[in-house]
Amino acid sequence: MTRKLAAGNWKMNGTAADLDRIARLAAAHPEPACEVLICPPATLVSRAAEQAAGTPVKIGGQDCHPETSGAHTGDHSAVMLADAGATAVILGHSERRADHGETNLTVQRKAEAVLAADLTAIVCIGETLDQREAGRTLDIVEEQLFGSLPEAATAENTVVAYEPVWAIGTGKVPTNDQIAEVHSHIRTRLGDHYGAAAGTGIRLLYGGSVKPGNAGEIFAIDNVDGALVGGASLRVEDFSPIISALDGKA
Ligand code: 13P
Repeated sequence: MTRKLAAGNWKMNGTAADLDRIARLAAAHPEPACEVLICPPATLVSRAAEQAAGTPVKIGGQDCHPETSGAHTGDHSAVMLADAGATAVILGHSERRADHGETNLTVQRKAEAVLAADLTAIVCIGETLDQREAGRTLDIVEEQLFGSLPEAATAENTVVAYEPVWAIGTGKVPTNDQIAEVHSHIRTRLGDHYGAAAGTGIRLLYGGSVKPGNAGEIFAIDNVDGALVGGASLRVEDFSPIISALDGKA
């Protein structure tokens, strides 16, 4: 069975002074049952990977360009992230879809680049509040899923993160039934499309206001294989109990 995954997305937070969080996290979890991934800003990936070397903590990026190299000022490629020591890349986060107009097709091209660089693609999908209130959640999530995932997705190279936009950074969390419904739908549709092994094996993370106080309850929901954590990944005191809660389920 694939290991559960506790992934921290630092977003646009952190400087060199914050890198000691990685060593402290590794010291608190020397042999975690789950995988632990920290995705710092691109400026810190290589130094974070040096900090994490020899520990169970892995380092990831938060975005990449679909191409390997070229005239794209300000961008970085999946190959460059791999070179810096990353093992995974978050793609299609709702903040990138909103801030940078990323479409499903853009995200899919980026995900293909990530797989080509032998990294794990963590593809984010999730509905807005308007879409949920209009009863369109499952349709939106499915459209994003098949629009954004690479055709070569497998249990080994791809992770799906369900992050309802309205739950990100708001302290609002869907009910357990709402999370269960979406995750079960994603699981079924992955199986229909990619076959049984990918359907059961692709890890499905929940993301959006995961905190030490709600992590255990969220991890107990069927088809939740871990979490993509924003704000609470910035403090070891908050992220560590989330890892322990996931270890309890692993
Ligand atoms: P918060 O945990 O801060 O709500 O952010 C979730 C998220 O967007 C992770 O990618």
